[in-house]
Parts: sequence; C-alpha cells; structure tokens
Amino acid sequence: MTQPAVVILLGPPGAGKGTQARMLEDDFGLIQLSTGDLLRAAVAAGTTAGKKAKEVMDAGLLVSDDIVLAVLKDRMAQDDVQNGIILDGFPRTDGQASALDGLLAAVGQRVTAAISLEVDDHAMVGRVAGRYTCAGCGEGYHDEFKTPARAGTCDKCGGTAFKRRADDNAETVRERLKAYHAQTAPLIAYYDGKGVLQRINAMGAIADIRAELGAIVGRVSA
Ligand code: AP5
Repeated sequence: MTQPAVVILLGPPGAGKGTQARMLEDDFGLIQLSTGDLLRAAVAAGTTAGKKAKEVMDAGLLVSDDIVLAVLKDRMAQDDVQNGIILDGFPRTDGQASALDGLLAAVGQRVTAAISLEVDDHAMVGRVAGRYTCAGCGEGYHDEFKTPARAGTCDKCGGTAFKRRADDNAETVRERLKAYHAQTAPLIAYYDGKGVLQRINAMGAIADIRAELGAIVGRVSA
C-alpha cells in the first residue's frame, strides 16, 4: 500500500518554506505542519512550553527538542494529517530527524521527500524583514515581493488586519541564519544518504518555485 506523502521543506529563514507550504496545501490537499507556527501558538496561549520557548525564539536560537517534539506530536495526533503532510521548519536537529524517523516507523511510514530550498543568505534579511501576514487567516505577504492585489486587504480571506513577527528584525535573523547553518544544514546530507533529497534553487520567482516543487510533490503524492 502506498503511504501518504511526508514532505520536508529544508531551508534558512526567509527561504520560502511557509509561503510554498501553504501553496502545496492548496495544490495537493496536504497539511502544513509548521513548528514555528505551533510554537508561536503556544507562546500566545501562555502554556508552560510557550513560556519556555519565547525567550529562545526572541533570541533567534533553537527551542529544545523535547518542547518541539511535544507540540509536533500533539499536532500529528489530529485526524487531518492522514492524507499527507508538509513539514515546514522541522526537523532542525539530528535529534529531531531521528525522532521523526521513529514516529513514522511506528505507523509503517517514512519521509517521502526532503526538499532543500537553496538561497543566498545575504538576500534573506531583506526577505524576512519585509514579511507580514494576515491576522485573520495567516496568509503571508511581503512589502516588495508579494503584496495583496488590493492594498490593505487579504487576497485569501478579505481581512484588513495584518501583523509582523517579533523575531523578524535584522539582528535576530542573523542569529537564526547561524543556527540554521550550525544545526540544520547537516540534515541535507542526512536525507541525501537516505535517497530522498531534492534541491531547488529558491532565489527565483515564487510562482516558478511553486511549479518546480509541485512537480516533485506530485510524484511522491501519486
Ligand atoms: P520558523 O517560524 O520556522 O521561522 P524560520 O525557519 O526562521 O523561517 P521563516 O518563517 O522566517 O522563513 P520561511 O522560509 O518560512 O519564509 P517565508 O515563506 O515566510 O521558526 C521561528 C523560530 O521558532 C526559530 O527561530 C526557533 O526559535 C523556533 N523553532 C521553530 N521550529 C523549530 C524546531 N523544529 N526546532 C527548534 N526551534 C524551532 O518567506 C519570507 C518572506 O519572503 C515572505 O514575506 C515571502 O512573501 C517572501 N518570499 C518567499 N519566497 C520568495 C521568493 N521566491 N522571492 C521573493 N520573496 C519571497
């Protein structure tokens, strides 16, 4: 029996993981699981995990594996993940990658594709600093690269309130880039060794990258 797609998007802050994951949800009916979003929800809810995570996230460092795995496991226990998932921002450490293998093996599954979004670091600060999202539906925008069709109104839900992330400032982005290269980039070789790695040049137009990713995800979702 073919298993549901389990697609990992790897890439530094600003690479376009969230932007493309939301499009893949629309295109393939997969569910985006963003550990960044899950942790921000825990912070907003004031849970014990959220309180511990907040200071670490504000500093641009990685939250501990035990906290991240706890929020991810809770989310993966929900019914809507049965048709396939896109992991956005997870795994980010060796420990998280091993834990994911274990979770999937327990239900007879494995990672079907790990896609590395390859970008120039120097362009990422501008991408992240210009980012904002719809406060209603979470659709992502950028001051320059992705503006709503009608200024001030979300294309997706018609909302008019927008927000920016606390960690989207130049200094914190530089810390996040350091954390990516030290702790997460080694996972590219890990997934290459498992024969599931794909690399994409993610410096092009959002629509072109969507098409390239769609071709890969279409193959592993078939
Ligand atoms: P997280 O929320 O995962 O943030 P991140 O990895 O730093 O990634 P970003 O959300 O900044 O970038 P993205 O690649 O999604 O880019 P986007 O599509 O928005 O993590 C935040 C924090 O939570 C971490 O620092 C850590 O503390 C903690 N955390 C989360 N997961 C963790 C884990 N597993 N373990 C430990 N800690 C964890 O695009 C950015 C902007 O660019 C947007 O405005 C977009 O419109 C624009 N854009 C996108 N693509 C293009 C393009 N091709 N051309 C031009 N503009 C583009």
